Amino acid sequence: MGKGLFITLEGVDGVGKTTQALLLKAALEQRGHQVVHTFEPGGTELGSRIRQLLLNPEHTELSSMTEILLYAADRAQHVHEKVRPALAAGKTVICERFVDSSLAYQGYGLGLELAAIEAVNHWATGGLKPDLTIYLDADPADCLARTKKDRIAQRTLEYYGRVRAGFLAIAQAEPERFKVISAVGTLEQVASRVLKAVEGVI
Ligand SMILES: Nc1ncnc2c1ncn2[C@@H]1O[C@H](COP(=O)(O)OP(=O)(O)OP(=O)(O)O)[C@@H](O)[C@H]1O
Ligand SMILES: [Mg+2]
Repeated sequence: MGKGLFITLEGVDGVGKTTQALLLKAALEQRGHQVVHTFEPGGTELGSRIRQLLLNPEHTELSSMTEILLYAADRAQHVHEKVRPALAAGKTVICERFVDSSLAYQGYGLGLELAAIEAVNHWATGGLKPDLTIYLDADPADCLARTKKDRIAQRTLEYYGRVRAGFLAIAQAEPERFKVISAVGTLEQVASRVLKAVEGVI
């Protein structure tokens, strides 16, 4: 079995990752791809418990370090249990959020050391890198207004401004892998932009 294609979708809360992941899955299946759609945090049974720890607004005592490590623990399990087996079976994996989210949210957003977040995540994933990352870009204020306010999404718009700037900095550093797609427009308009970017790698 060959190695499948690993596509990640990134963007702030409510930007349309789930919506676009499902549309992309349908479009690729129509072209004969076998597609696994998954997400972080919580893409596995164990991970769904880690997700609860991370996103429950009652967990106000959760430290930044714990936050980084819980995301990495969820990711390690997800890569081991779901992502790598699907890729090994030649499937296309569409994953909502991956290491770039940790860099943007905990690195750029909280101001924590990028190199440490990279190192911990390199270890957690065994160095797995997406073949393509679609970053859905829009004003965080508009996006947050249409999603539910979990522990992270309760953070300020200043925080989300840094997260967005972080994603855009990653795009500048890795333009081949990390594609910035405007998420402003109808679902269909955004979906056709996403498909065009994916066609560049399939
Ligand atoms: N292009 C769009 N224009 C207007 N509304 C949209 C658009 N795309 C998605 N939405 C709506 O915005 C809301 C959030 O979309 P979605 O759940 O896909 O975002 P998400 O990035 O997966 O959010 P989360 O980070 O919370 O999982 C949904 O109600 C969805 O219908
Ligand atoms: Mg979603």
